[in-house]
Amino acid sequence: MKRLVVVGMISLGAGLVTGSAVLAEGAPPTPEEQARNAVELRQGLFKLMGWNMAPLGAMLRNKLPFDAAVAQKSADRIEQLSLMIPDVFQADTHQFKIETEALEGIWTSKTDFNAKAAEMNKAAAALNEAAKTGDKAATLKAAGALGKACGSCHDTFRTK
Ligand code: HEC
Repeated sequence: MKRLVVVGMISLGAGLVTGSAVLAEGAPPTPEEQARNAVELRQGLFKLMGWNMAPLGAMLRNKLPFDAAVAQKSADRIEQLSLMIPDVFQADTHQFKIETEALEGIWTSKTDFNAKAAEMNKAAAALNEAAKTGDKAATLKAAGALGKACGSCHDTFRTK
């Protein structure tokens, strides 16, 4: 049996389209609205990262029994999510008055910022490999290193 697959095509202006931008038919979103959407999108990405980091943090603090499969799942997801960081920061929003923890340096030192995202991606990949072996000590060590890679970017490019 043939299946008809309908794919919605959306032209990606700044490379970012979010729900409200799509719904606002007629008038195109103002630059301020676009910036607001971009901030919401990247914060959503980091919320997902934090959510996937939570079990790893709990294992590191002995609040959750060690589980290599859970660690691997988290690592896998964080690895994928990290690849989206440069994309969701393509829109330079720093000239808008929007509540955000992102510092201006993200856009003035883009190479450095993207390098930190790449380092974090590597740390997630290393955790993925360690978790696959099931070795507790190696996995927790790699989870700690991943947490440090998150912190390294926050120290430089986030307000707190
Ligand atoms: C390349 C830089 C970078 C890396 C790497 C990074 N972050 Fe962030 N993170 C940011 C920036 C910038 C913000 C602020 C975003 C904003 O407010 O617009 C942020 C915000 C957050 C937030 C708050 C989201 C919200 O608004 O509720 C969480 C949670 C978070 N990051 C978790 C993580 C975790 C966990 C990792 C590692 C797995 C990580 N981040 C790695 C730059 C980074």
